[in-house]
Amino acid sequence: MKTIIEPFRIKSVEPIYFNTKEEREVILEKAFYNPFLIHSNDVLIDLLTDSGTSAMSSNQWAGIMQGDESYAGSPSFFRFEKAIQDITGLPIVIPTHQGRASEKILFSILGGKGKYFLSNTLFDTTRANIEFSGAEGIDCLCEEGKLPTVAAPFKGNLDIELLKKHILEIGAGNIPLVLITVTNNSGGGQPVSMKNIRAVRQICTEHNIPLFIDACRFAENCYFIKLREAGYENKTVREIAAELFSYADGCTMSAKKDAFANIGGFLAMRSEELALNCRNLLVITEGFPTYGGLAGRDLEAIAIGINEVLDEHYLQYRIRSIEYLTNKLIAAGVPVMQPAGGHAVYIDAKQFLPHIPVNQYPGQAFVGALYIEGGIRSVEIGSLMFGKYDDNHNLIPAQLELVRLAIPRRVYTQSHIDYVAEVIIDVFERRNGIKGMQIIEESPMLRHFTAKLKPVE
Ligand code: F0G
Repeated sequence: MKTIIEPFRIKSVEPIYFNTKEEREVILEKAFYNPFLIHSNDVLIDLLTDSGTSAMSSNQWAGIMQGDESYAGSPSFFRFEKAIQDITGLPIVIPTHQGRASEKILFSILGGKGKYFLSNTLFDTTRANIEFSGAEGIDCLCEEGKLPTVAAPFKGNLDIELLKKHILEIGAGNIPLVLITVTNNSGGGQPVSMKNIRAVRQICTEHNIPLFIDACRFAENCYFIKLREAGYENKTVREIAAELFSYADGCTMSAKKDAFANIGGFLAMRSEELALNCRNLLVITEGFPTYGGLAGRDLEAIAIGINEVLDEHYLQYRIRSIEYLTNKLIAAGVPVMQPAGGHAVYIDAKQFLPHIPVNQYPGQAFVGALYIEGGIRSVEIGSLMFGKYDDNHNLIPAQLELVRLAIPRRVYTQSHIDYVAEVIIDVFERRNGIKGMQIIEESPMLRHFTAKLKPVE
């Protein structure tokens, strides 16, 4: 088989500003060892997130010019609405300025004290919005999903027995909905199988609990189903997506991922009653229901992007480019999440830095080393992001200590990725000299965004 090429030509480019290792040491110290506090001009390859960082297509830019900025009833909204209805089959579409705005609205209405939301794994903003409402989130990830270096085809699946157990213990009446995250971002960008979604649907139906999809990366998940699940090899990704959403009562979506948009999101659903409540809150917090915090041009970019992402040449290149980096790292002995996920490479920091205990945040230590070595920005998805404290202020660590290298869509070429592999392998070879980290300042919620740290002496 020949090399899978980037299925695009480049029309417009942005410069990368180079700096030296010595300069980066100072920059990182000034940023308190937190990659979120580094200026992006000081980053060579930015793998902090695949969210809002996509390169838009010439068609999307053309759509931007067609954006109609009317306050109410803009044709851009109706194109946006139809694009989403056609792909998901969900009749009601509510625009929001990004994914977490959809979450805020949904969980403000359905959450509150005594309520529980079950999921494969809730993303950090999702969990935060649930907890902010007073409710609790419970992850029911399958066992293989918790073993980073053990390969399995659908490590994003829910543990069906665990889900049933929680429903019986909590009582279906206290569970406003089950949310399946596709692909499972916090669990390594791993896909969920159609079989698993169908099984969850059946349980939800038996207990009269609505099922929602966190659809940020639905196209990547559907492409994995095509590649890995028997019976789907000859279906189009569009057909697979239609089936996936047919099991859902609704979805939340950040269009900053699988819609190639730099901003935007939506809620979609079947229930008129829930939609009425969502729209009431939308008007207070986001905007009128035909723009929901977005400009008409953003609605156009999303309407076009959400169709472009279903192009299977694109998805083949996308999934292959993540696998390419993963395989290079595996060949060098670097402990990475296996198999490759959909949007990112995840490094198992516990195995990478076995000399650093979890209460010294090995993931964050690796993030810093990677920045200094090669100017690469990554993010910790471990105990800095998800850790809690017990009553004695001892860390209750996260399940996994991962570092994510999220690949922006259509942005970097193969030589950028080769460079990333070289830098990681360099860091791996001198890993014994890397020190643990301690927190010197933190906020009570989503602390990883603003926490200040320093190396442990
Ligand atoms: N759900 C998932 C699975 C996500 O990955 C994200 C965002 C959101 C919800 C929230 O969407 O950012 O538009 O408000 N993930 C980004 C990331 C931030 O880097 O993974 P948002």
